[in-house]
Amino acid sequence: MTNTVLVGAQWGDEGKGKVTDLIAHDYDFVVRFQGGNNAGHTVIHGDRKLALHLMPSGVMYEQSTPVIGNGVVVDPGVLIKEMAMLEAEGISCKKLKISCDAHIIMPYHKDLDGADEKRLGENQIGTTKRGIGPCYQDKVARKGIRLQDLMDERIFRLKVETALSQKNAILQKVYGLHTYTVEEICDEYLPYGNILRPYMAETSQLLDDALRAGKSILFEGAQGTLLDIDHGTYPFVTSSSCCAGGALTGTGVGPKAIDRVLGIEKAYVTRVGAGPFPTEQRYAEDGGSPEEAAIGELLCQEGHEFGVTTGRKRRCGWFDAVIGRYAVEVNGLTDVALTKLDVLSAFDTIKVCVAYECEGKRYDYFPMQQSVLFHAKPIYEELPGWKGQDITGCRAFEELPANAQAYVKHLEEITGANMSFVSVGPDRDQTIVRNWYR
Ligand code: IMP
Repeated sequence: MTNTVLVGAQWGDEGKGKVTDLIAHDYDFVVRFQGGNNAGHTVIHGDRKLALHLMPSGVMYEQSTPVIGNGVVVDPGVLIKEMAMLEAEGISCKKLKISCDAHIIMPYHKDLDGADEKRLGENQIGTTKRGIGPCYQDKVARKGIRLQDLMDERIFRLKVETALSQKNAILQKVYGLHTYTVEEICDEYLPYGNILRPYMAETSQLLDDALRAGKSILFEGAQGTLLDIDHGTYPFVTSSSCCAGGALTGTGVGPKAIDRVLGIEKAYVTRVGAGPFPTEQRYAEDGGSPEEAAIGELLCQEGHEFGVTTGRKRRCGWFDAVIGRYAVEVNGLTDVALTKLDVLSAFDTIKVCVAYECEGKRYDYFPMQQSVLFHAKPIYEELPGWKGQDITGCRAFEELPANAQAYVKHLEEITGANMSFVSVGPDRDQTIVRNWYR
């Protein structure tokens, strides 16, 4: 039985949902460890596609227990709606366990997220405006409100009162926004507490017991390596630890529990929100040349690159091996799942960035300074494509056209990753499993 951490290896949206869906049913526990409802992935239920934002995908499998760890920030209204949606689809949420140490996203966090983005103007991060950043800010500032606080009305009121004495002043005086009363917030949130109370648990103990009993755990990461608060393209990141290390602090298990770290990587790269992206093929509206824009549009259309959570058009670009190597390093990836290889069937030739150039200097590794990344010019290799050959029906690596095989092997070589899965289409069975064992 192995315990696996699954993480995004780029800027999120790498297809973690599909890979999770592929392997999650093998695990006794499926645990979210960071982020909140800024995440979004689609799971397939019979002939229906369901969008999950907060619920661990283990909820879809009878034998798995879904767990929301202490590192997650929970918008209780969103979670309750998601549970109701799942129950209406005939999917039971009975087994869900939520850490009572998880922090709560409050209404003022969402207001402040939006207002702060507006204040930043051109320099904005492009957040999902779900209140993620402000909630983590309060956590680190030791001013947050946790799910367990909902279990004691007196404590909850007191904490809300203390929080509002500061938040109302900021909302009103800095941003000219409406303020909240303690009553308003208690009327909305205390009933959430009553609904969620049966699911709240001391989840680190639950997972420790599970590990001692030889049960297996899948730690389900959200967002991606380059959106990690420490290792990402700061400040254009989310506010949590999306890398593999976050699985430990976000759940309370020790490092020896982890056997494998599976990184999910697209065969090209996408990003939503602002921030540096060296291999971006900019759209015409973003100032891209006609050639660039044509490539960007083709990747976007062929790859259906629109956000599940926000519906935003994603920025698209060629595969970046500098990032690939960095993701292997900072996560200790033992395996990679390469997704959306079929999207590249639309191209005559395919470019891969092997290093960057900035002010006459070559960078084979992720540059130390963010400003280098902003001005980095990709050094590309151009590989022959397999245009016109439909690879969506391939189920064994040897069935792929020779150029597609060579492309995958080349990426393995230049990033140092073992590509254990290659995905050739959106459906569960459109996957080539190369050397994945449990
Ligand atoms: P926040 O997480 O809403 O604070 O947004 C911070 C940055 O992370 C923004 O650039 C978002 O677009 C990005 N981001 C957050 N969640 C996701 C995700 O699930 N996929 C891709 N990008 C994300």
